Amino acid sequence: MNSSGWIEFRFSKADIHFNDMNQYSSTATLKPLSINDLAAMKQRGEKISCLTAYDASFSALIDKVGVDMLLVGDSLGMVVQGQHTTLPVTVRDMVYHARCVSQARQRAFIIADLPFMAYATPVMAAKNAAKLMQLGGAQMVKLEGPKIDCVSFLVDQGIPVCGHLGLLPQSINQLGSYKVQGKEQGAAEKMLADALQLQQAGAGLLILECVPAALAKDISAQLTIPVIGIGAGVDCDGQVLVLYDMLNIGIGKRPRFSKNFMSDAANIEEAIHAYHQAVKQSLFPAAEHSF
Ligand code: KIV
Repeated sequence: MNSSGWIEFRFSKADIHFNDMNQYSSTATLKPLSINDLAAMKQRGEKISCLTAYDASFSALIDKVGVDMLLVGDSLGMVVQGQHTTLPVTVRDMVYHARCVSQARQRAFIIADLPFMAYATPVMAAKNAAKLMQLGGAQMVKLEGPKIDCVSFLVDQGIPVCGHLGLLPQSINQLGSYKVQGKEQGAAEKMLADALQLQQAGAGLLILECVPAALAKDISAQLTIPVIGIGAGVDCDGQVLVLYDMLNIGIGKRPRFSKNFMSDAANIEEAIHAYHQAVKQSLFPAAEHSF
């Protein structure tokens, strides 16, 4: 621990072994993807693949397969820490896991979640985002809800931001249950307006969680920034899943919008590869994973 109480991380690139790096053509370049690369993928209609990651080993494996983005999600509170919600996750937890992930990746773009109450004000958001970027190695931070003032402030400081609309797990105690959002016309119109405002404020990406497929299609078409869906249908610009759900190793019941990619795979690497290919070819999510 250093004098400010933060744990220091000392990994060396030489400690990380990549087997058969040329197996996947998309890892031919070892330069990390940038937000411009992701924007260009939307422009040319190439789907963006994303998985959550919380540690170095999975980070290296997912990166090796060629998945475009790694999300260090605060879902780690549930799937790694065994908490009932994401609320107990701290900034320190997020920095620790972001650091583990960023040390091991070569190409994938890294987003880290600002956890519950880490962006109660724009200044708090900036201080905590700086920790995720400077100590955790994140390239972008994600925050839940239409927090337009926080997004503008972060973007003004040069911090790339990913918005998150639809089901907001950090608001579970207000929502009461994890359910589809934006089903009624008023709620759908508000979500579209919020998405446009987030883009206007400078957000570089948007995640839509548990949203009717038709609404997610409309939002993806109206926004110029990439829209990544989770339970939001196949017409988003990309897809994200919680890693442990798609490997079928989560503690609780797998959500309907996820899929067990292990069932037809010989090993974890094959399952991640199948997911990546299914996203790129618009084969996932199918109708049964959508609302
Ligand atoms: O924390 C997380 O893993 C997320 C995804 C569900 C999008 O925010």
